[in-house]
Amino acid sequence: MDNRVQIFDTTLRDGEQVPGCQLNTVEKIQIAKELESLGVDVIEAGFPVSSPGDFNSVIEISKAVTWPTICALTRAVDKDIDVAAEALRYAKHKRIHTGIGTSDSHIKYKFNSTREEILERAVHAVKYARKYVEDVEFYAEDAGRTDNEYLARVVEAVIKAGATVVNIPDTTGYCLPEEYGAKIKYLFEHVDGIDKAVISTHCHNDLGMATANTFEGIRNGARQVEVTINGVGERAGNTALEEIVMILKCHKDTDLYTNINTQKIYSLSRMVSNLMNMPVQPNKAIVGRNAFSHSSGIHQDGVLKNAQTYEIIDPKDIGLDENSIVLTARSGHAALKYRLETHGVNLSEEKLDKVYEEFLKLADKKKEINDDDILMLAGSERANDHHIKVDWLQATSGIGMKPVASIGLDISGEKFEAAATGNGPVDAAIHAVRQIIKKPVTLTEFTIQGVSKGSDDTCKVHMQVEHNGRIYYGFGASTDIVNASIEAYVDALNKFTAE
Ligand code: KIV
Ligand code: ZN
Repeated sequence: MDNRVQIFDTTLRDGEQVPGCQLNTVEKIQIAKELESLGVDVIEAGFPVSSPGDFNSVIEISKAVTWPTICALTRAVDKDIDVAAEALRYAKHKRIHTGIGTSDSHIKYKFNSTREEILERAVHAVKYARKYVEDVEFYAEDAGRTDNEYLARVVEAVIKAGATVVNIPDTTGYCLPEEYGAKIKYLFEHVDGIDKAVISTHCHNDLGMATANTFEGIRNGARQVEVTINGVGERAGNTALEEIVMILKCHKDTDLYTNINTQKIYSLSRMVSNLMNMPVQPNKAIVGRNAFSHSSGIHQDGVLKNAQTYEIIDPKDIGLDENSIVLTARSGHAALKYRLETHGVNLSEEKLDKVYEEFLKLADKKKEINDDDILMLAGSERANDHHIKVDWLQATSGIGMKPVASIGLDISGEKFEAAATGNGPVDAAIHAVRQIIKKPVTLTEFTIQGVSKGSDDTCKVHMQVEHNGRIYYGFGASTDIVNASIEAYVDALNKFTAE
C-alpha cells in the first residue's frame, strides 16, 4: 500500500458551515489558491445545490485552480448530482462527493427507510455520478455509529458501483480513537475489492478526538484525510489539517507522509482566521499564538541553550519566522507589503497606501506592530465598501456619571446624527446607532480580544446579531474598545441592510 496520505481540504465546505463565518466567492478563491500552493490533493469547494453562492463558488474555484482535484458535495439525489456536475464543468480534475446516512438512527429517523433501500440509493447515486465524472467519492454519513457489518456491505456495494474513494465520517464526533481505527481495519478485512478504492477519514471534534481518530484511521489503512485549516467546522469543528500534517512530519517512524509544503501553514492559518473572522485559540496546536512561546524560566533557559530541549517543531517549518514578525513606525511601505504578502494578502497599490497610512497611525500608538495588527488593518479596508460608515463617534463614561455617546453615520452618502445614554459607553453608542437604523436587531454574541499585551494593545471585537431569524457577523479592530465595538456592530448591520 502506498504510504502517501492524500489531503482533502474541506475548509470551504464543511469548514464554512460555521454560523457567521461565511465567505464570499472572492475570499474563497483567495483561500483555494493558497490551498493549491500548500499542496493539498483535493479541495472540496462547496455544496452546489444548496445555494446559488455555493454553485458559483465551485465554478469560480474550478477556473482559478489547476492542480488539486475540485470536489463538489451532493446528497444521494439525482438533482444534486446534476447540479454538481454542472458546477464542476471548468475543473481540470473533478470529483463528485455523494452519499447518504447509514446509521440506524439516520435510516429510521432521517429517511424513514430500511437498510436495503438505503443500500440501493447509495449504489444508484454512485452509478449516476459516474455518468458525469470518473472520480466519485461516496460518504456513509454517521459511519462512526453505523453497524460495522452493514457498513462493510455498503462500502463493498459502492466500490462495485464505481466509487473511487469511500469516506467513513464520524459525523457526530462520537468515536473513540481505538474504535474508529478498528472500524477502518474491519473494512479492510471484510470488504471485497477494497483495494480498488481509497478509504478516507472524516472526523469531527465534538469530544476533542478528531485528530486522534484521523490518525488511527490512517494507521489502519485509510489513505485520505478530510481536514480543515485551523480545524474550523460546525460545532467543535473538523480535524485540523496542520495537526495531521505535522504529526506525520514529526513521527517519521510511521513511514506515512503528505505532499504538503509545511512552510505555508502559518500564513494560511492567519488568512483563514482573518477572512472568516474566526480567532485561533492562543493555545491551539501548531498555529496558536502561544504554540511556540515559553513562559517558564526553566523552559526559556533550555530553549535558549538549544531549541530542541523543549520544542519538537522548528517554528520555521510552519513558516513562522520570528525575526521578521515585528514592524515599527520606521518600517517602510515595502516591508509592510512584504509582510502582507507572506500572509497571502495582495493589495492594490491604492489600497496598500491607505493601509500604510493606518499602519503609521497605529505605530504611533503602539511601539511594535505584529502580524495580527497588520492583518487587521488590511481587513479594515473592507469597511470602505460599506454603505453604512461611521463618520465620527464620541463616548464619555466615568465613575459617578451616566455614560453617553453621540455618533455620526454616513448612509450611502446621506448624513445622520444621534445621541444616547446606556449602562456603559459601548451600550450608549449602540443605542445611538439604533436611533438611526431602526431595524429589529438583537445582539447575540459580543467578544473582545486583545491582540498582544499592554494597555496600548489593539483589540479585536467579534459580534453576532440576529435580524429576522438570521445571524449576521461583524468584526472591528482598534486600539479603542468603543470604536472597535461600534465598527463590529456597523459591520454586522451592513450585511443585511444592503440586502
Ligand atoms: O460530517 C459528515 O458526515 C459530512 C459529510 C457530508 C461528508 O460532512
Ligand atoms: Zn463533516
